[in-house]
Amino acid sequence: VRHLLGIKNVSENDIQTILETATQFKEVINRPIKKVPSLRDITIANIFFENSTRTRLSFELAEKRLSADTISFSSSGSSVKKGETLLDTVNNILAMKVDMIVMRHSSPGAPHFLSQRIAANIVNAGDGTHEHPTQGLLDAFSMRENLGGDLTGKKIAIIGDITHSRVALSNIFCLQKLGAEIMVCGPSTLIPKYIRNLGVKVSHDVKSALQWCDVANVLRIQLERQQLKYFPSLREYSLYYGITRKMLDDLNRKIVLMHPGPINRGVELASDAADSGHSIILEQVQNGVAVRMAVLYLLAQQN
Ligand code: CP
Repeated sequence: VRHLLGIKNVSENDIQTILETATQFKEVINRPIKKVPSLRDITIANIFFENSTRTRLSFELAEKRLSADTISFSSSGSSVKKGETLLDTVNNILAMKVDMIVMRHSSPGAPHFLSQRIAANIVNAGDGTHEHPTQGLLDAFSMRENLGGDLTGKKIAIIGDITHSRVALSNIFCLQKLGAEIMVCGPSTLIPKYIRNLGVKVSHDVKSALQWCDVANVLRIQLERQQLKYFPSLREYSLYYGITRKMLDDLNRKIVLMHPGPINRGVELASDAADSGHSIILEQVQNGVAVRMAVLYLLAQQN
């Protein structure tokens, strides 16, 4: 395997290997000396055509912890603004003797397009509404840590804007391979028709989804990918689907609350829920570094 383009075509065995390797790297980065020399001779370019905080910084940190040399590229402020193509941009970066590309792009399939045209390893850091494979992996890693290590038979509700999310698909592919049961929940306007073909349950009632699940993975309403006049409005969404601390407390049992970030506070999650004892949102961010170290390390081993 030369690239990580999505979770759809990654085997359960390879997912297990990535998660076990991430467990070892989590131990490393919790030590006083957090660095290992594993990628000392490797140069990685992080190329971002879309905004990011968590993914970009945790890839950069993962690369530094593995002793790789790194360069970073944002399309804003680059020669993309003068009309340079994606392929020309990447070929120019590779001419500087770069070995691996971590890329985020607004077009679904952009990393797949590149993977057929360049020799370097590619890691997809999110392609439009398609996949976000390292988020799927770090979510699975965080769920395993909080649910006793095995996701077989565990019930995961993915609640929110499924239509415009890349996290939803990577979560579904990853968690099903690990034996979990998935429900997607949201207004029908934000749940794509094809989702039923993936073997997931569909609900439009957030309270019953919370009652059903062991984990609620709450997704952001992606306003940047939607028409301005869509239904429901943010106010309506928060009224009918927003999750509050009271809703979690009323369950009278502990469920794990997750969100990939960034949170629209007061829309899909009230602050008192996001900051409650149910939430493992910052654990997810912490685990992102170890999981991305594992992905980069294992891809480099293939070369
Ligand atoms: N979860 C996630 O992809 O966050 P960023 O957009 O900040 O990278």
